[in-house]
Amino acid sequence: MANVIVIGTQWGDEGKGKITDLLSRSADVVVRYQGGVNAGHTVVVGDDTFKLHLIPSGILYPETDCIIGSGTVIEPQTLLAEIEQLKQIGVKTQNLFIAETAHVTMPYHQLIDRAAEDRRAEHKIGTTGKGIGPTYCDKSERVGIRIVDLMDKETRVKRLQWAIEYKNFVLERLYEKEPLNADTVIKQYIDYAEQLRPYVVDASLKIDEAIKKRRNILFEGAQGTLLDLDHGTYPYVTSSNPVAGGACIGAGVGPTQIDRIIGVAKAYTTRVGEGPFPTELLDDAGNHLGDRGAEFGTTTGRKRRCGWFDGVIGRYAVRINGLDCLAITKLDVLDELSEIKVCIAYELDGEVIQDFPCDSRSFGRAKPIYETLPGWRTSTKECKQFADLPKAARAYLQFIADLLETPIAIISIGAQRGQTIIVEDPIHGPKRGLLSA
Ligand code: GDP
Ligand code: IMO
Ligand code: MG
Repeated sequence: MANVIVIGTQWGDEGKGKITDLLSRSADVVVRYQGGVNAGHTVVVGDDTFKLHLIPSGILYPETDCIIGSGTVIEPQTLLAEIEQLKQIGVKTQNLFIAETAHVTMPYHQLIDRAAEDRRAEHKIGTTGKGIGPTYCDKSERVGIRIVDLMDKETRVKRLQWAIEYKNFVLERLYEKEPLNADTVIKQYIDYAEQLRPYVVDASLKIDEAIKKRRNILFEGAQGTLLDLDHGTYPYVTSSNPVAGGACIGAGVGPTQIDRIIGVAKAYTTRVGEGPFPTELLDDAGNHLGDRGAEFGTTTGRKRRCGWFDGVIGRYAVRINGLDCLAITKLDVLDELSEIKVCIAYELDGEVIQDFPCDSRSFGRAKPIYETLPGWRTSTKECKQFADLPKAARAYLQFIADLLETPIAIISIGAQRGQTIIVEDPIHGPKRGLLSA
């Protein structure tokens, strides 16, 4: 039995969907613990590509229970469309469960998200516009609507009426926008509620039952460490806690139940939206990574900013999450390069620093100090085991493992399930592995 957290170590889109799907083979339960439809997790199986926004990436395994946990925010229209799409291609969703304590993203959240971004002008965050920040704001302000509120036939109309009236005031007076029609929204959300009702459970209790039966549980993070509300590049972050500690809060389990924490990192770095990014490449090398890596957002279609692997944020992610091991993805994207750079430290105001500066202003001034490694100029896509990789690719991975002082357990060399090298069993194998520092 092992309970494992899978998190993103960078700014999201590291390939968490692929790695979660892969590990779901041996999981009985997969839990999403934070975020909402801002996430876009891609799972490729043969000719089929699944883009999941809220449903955990374990859904393709019919025997695996998939739980959307309490710490998530649920936008019902997208969730229902996702369920429908899966059903249409024969993927059953009777093993899907939704936490009754999760908060609901309402139409006013999306309107406020976009209006606030417009108002912030040059200070904008570059959000996905999916209403994530405003939904979490309401949760903190204690005026949010939870799934359980939508289930209560006695009180839900009054509850919704009050919330819409309150937010119409904000929309009209603060953002000078048209108010929402309360009757239309209430009717729509009651309809959504009834469609979602069969899936709604006490998620923490369900997870606890699984723990008592010694079943394998996988906690799937959304976004990434540098987008964490507390530990990321604030204010250019999301409004939840993607870090490993967030899994316990968002799923409703105690920290003593967690056995392993796996950090997913791209072999280079990408970021969507605004905010500092020291290793960003604004030249041909950046375009090359973007083209070869097909770096366009799964949720918004925006072009992702690309740069070299950043060992400073890598080490920070190891610390903040307490990582046991790494899954390095998209190594194949580097296949054609003659040389590859890795950021090993920053220069900040004339000083060399090894640690991530938490203040975004300092981080924005940090200049990367690079080590240049030789490329391998050979395709890695067909490699089946570590020894099959070109020597320079093995040296590149070893360099990252040493720099982060963390073993690499999984290497991904393509989007398909089979394009994966398991260096050691990331769940049951020894904590320090082959590629350990
Ligand atoms: P997530 O949000 O962390 O799940 O990542 P996304 O799904 O948003 O973005 C990762 C993208 O890279 C997806 O299109 C995946 O299919 C793709 N991908 C994942 N692993 C690999 C890999 O090793 N090589 C290549 N070329 N693509 C990959
Ligand atoms: P996955 O789970 C990459 C970014 C947005 C923006 C910031 C705040 O696929 O890795 P928000 O809408 O959350 O308020 O936007 O966070 N962002 C992501 N970037 N991958 C994601 O999710 C993201 N979810 C949010 O681009 O910069
Ligand atoms: Mg994504």
